[in-house]
Amino acid sequence: MKHKVGIVGCGGIAHQKHLPALSNAAERVEIVACCDIIVERAQEVAENFGAPGCKVFEDYRELLKEGDIEIVYVLTPNVAHCPITVAAFEAGKHVLCEKPMAANVEDAQRMMDAWKKSGKLFTIGYQNRYRPDSQTLKRLCEEGELGQIYYAQAHALRRRGVPTWGVFTDKAQQGGGPLIDIGTHSLDLTLWFMDNYEPAAVTGVTFEKLGHSLRPEVQGNPMGTWNPDTFEVEDAAFAFVTMKDGSLITIDASWIINSTEERCAASYLCGTIAGAELTGVGGSNDKKLYLNKIMGGKQVKIEADTEAGGVDLFPGRSVQAADVECKVWLDAIEGKGELVVKPEQAFTVTKILDAVYKSAQTGKQIVFE
Ligand SMILES: NC(=O)c1ccc[n+]([C@@H]2O[C@H](COP(=O)([O-])OP(=O)(O)OC[C@H]3O[C@@H](n4cnc5c(N)ncnc54)[C@H](O)[C@@H]3O)[C@@H](O)[C@H]2O)c1
Repeated sequence: MKHKVGIVGCGGIAHQKHLPALSNAAERVEIVACCDIIVERAQEVAENFGAPGCKVFEDYRELLKEGDIEIVYVLTPNVAHCPITVAAFEAGKHVLCEKPMAANVEDAQRMMDAWKKSGKLFTIGYQNRYRPDSQTLKRLCEEGELGQIYYAQAHALRRRGVPTWGVFTDKAQQGGGPLIDIGTHSLDLTLWFMDNYEPAAVTGVTFEKLGHSLRPEVQGNPMGTWNPDTFEVEDAAFAFVTMKDGSLITIDASWIINSTEERCAASYLCGTIAGAELTGVGGSNDKKLYLNKIMGGKQVKIEADTEAGGVDLFPGRSVQAADVECKVWLDAIEGKGELVVKPEQAFTVTKILDAVYKSAQTGKQIVFE
């Protein structure tokens, strides 16, 4: 029997990631219902990716009444993650929700409470964890090759990279701009490498210097022009996060900044034995992993060949992070493996990002209990 999936939100990430991954896993899973408030989008997905007889809905509450649906994918703008996920758990479904978990920590807490009551599985779409370079670095961290990681940088810097589809510049829909959108990936990776989910305090600063003011002819945005009159979120955010064990993480995130560097879903780690630089996605140094260590009494910087030979989850170059995400998720549902992205971990990411925004608003450090 195939797992029966309901898709809520049939836009960009559905088409870029989940629909191809679900199609590639067609022997294990089928899409039996689709929902979008723009119902033509749900119809298109039902026609092109749905099982025969795939149902179409405009309201997710109707989709959740379908008793045969076992798994719900929540692929809507951030603010809708909470009500849909909570209702899906109440309806007895497993939930894969896109990143970030929620638009704010209060919503994330509601989702965690509903998940715990449900006894179902819950994961968040942090697919960068399944990249070969990330998997290799995670293994090195687990094997103690870096020693204790006491200083890290989570990078999500785009020089120009404002998403111009959907509602990404709408604060009420998304909860924020580049920090919550792409900073979330970098912070998720960094906490995971450190295996440290105990933040003590956060100081954050956000800038709104360019998004509101740059007219289309001077934007230079590879993703097209945005409307400065409706740009409601930060252009860039920076944070200083101290952890309960005394270690430090800095975060940078931007969609628009006059920097010469581009570093997305990237992380730098400094440990007591060695250091690592995960260059992340985009730019000329795409998905490289460098290690700093002492060899033969000298300081060396080595580039790891993360593709050759593969690692556990990655037998070869052709494997996509999205396919591995899907496989890990279905394996966990079938009791054949553990989830890689655990809800508690994704919750901590949202808790820290929420504190960065609160600190930026108040000008004060946010201290966790
Ligand atoms: N994992 C990644 O790297 C990645 C990349 C891009 C986006 N995302 C995340 O995916 C989510 C969606 O982003 P997107 O780029 O697909 O946006 P999008 O605007 O392209 O698609 C969202 C879709 O959800 C629909 N929708 C909105 N509210 C709804 C509701 N209440 N019920 C049903 N449908 C609803 C919209 O009509 C739209 O079709 C966001 O949370 C975003 O952060 C993740």
